[in-house]
Amino acid sequence: MYDYMLGGKDNLGVDRAAIDQLTRHIPEAVPIAKANRAFLQRAVRQLAAAGIRQFLDLGSGLPTQGNVHEIVREASPDAKVVYVDHDPVVAAHARALLEEEGRVVFLQADLLRPTELLAAPEVTGFLDLSEPVAVLLVSILHFVQDAGDPAGMVKILRDALAPGSYLVLTHAVATIGREQAEESAKDVYRGSSTGGATGRTEAEIRAFFGDFELVEPGLVQVSDWRPDHPEILRDEALPGYLLAGVGRKMAK
Ligand SMILES: C[S@@+](CC[C@H](N)C(=O)[O-])C[C@H]1O[C@@H](n2cnc3c(N)ncnc32)[C@H](O)[C@@H]1O
Repeated sequence: MYDYMLGGKDNLGVDRAAIDQLTRHIPEAVPIAKANRAFLQRAVRQLAAAGIRQFLDLGSGLPTQGNVHEIVREASPDAKVVYVDHDPVVAAHARALLEEEGRVVFLQADLLRPTELLAAPEVTGFLDLSEPVAVLLVSILHFVQDAGDPAGMVKILRDALAPGSYLVLTHAVATIGREQAEESAKDVYRGSSTGGATGRTEAEIRAFFGDFELVEPGLVQVSDWRPDHPEILRDEALPGYLLAGVGRKMAK
């Protein structure tokens, strides 16, 4: 479904029908998906330029253009990227298209089990968690219901990271007055492999960062996070349905 919104070719009729249903209620869904992907790329580019050499991309999705390892490589050819997704279709595509000996690995795992995920050989044999890592949770936590304890799950990840590590996150916002649109989104995603979508308040989204320090400009509407072309984006400003932020783990 996300691939279809990004203009990709790896999607089925059922994905396209679901997104067509979604956009009838939320016409901004496609530009928001594109803004989400552009944010991920800006954040990764800036972290790589700032010297981060290890990336853990959770809920990485189908390979598309401008994948994390391709962006990272512009700044650092020897950087390492671990992609993680639980979807078997994503796994098949990602293994074929993304994996590169010694630099890029794919792990099929459920991020609801972070302790298991962090102990997987694809992670322990590849990343050095005593050094800074950027963990990406981009457009993924709203697919985790409260019953799955997303806050507890993200805390386990934060605690496992070394000072100087980063958390990169986008999350759908629960918006007052948009209940019908949200119900429609819930319906569409309930029928997907994710099982449903949950918008959260700004305070709930901020809490995912724990004691990590949000870098400038803080938690903002996704296309307002360090835009490449602010003058263009101002004309196309999207409503604040998706918040984005990057937090840094400080030394104790
Ligand atoms: C909207 S895509 C986001 C892709 C990418 N992070 C981005 O923002 O461009 C969400 C991805 O999260 C994956 N996902 C959803 N729930 C998951 C879970 N519990 N464990 C691992 N992956 C999950 C889905 O399979 C899907 O590929």
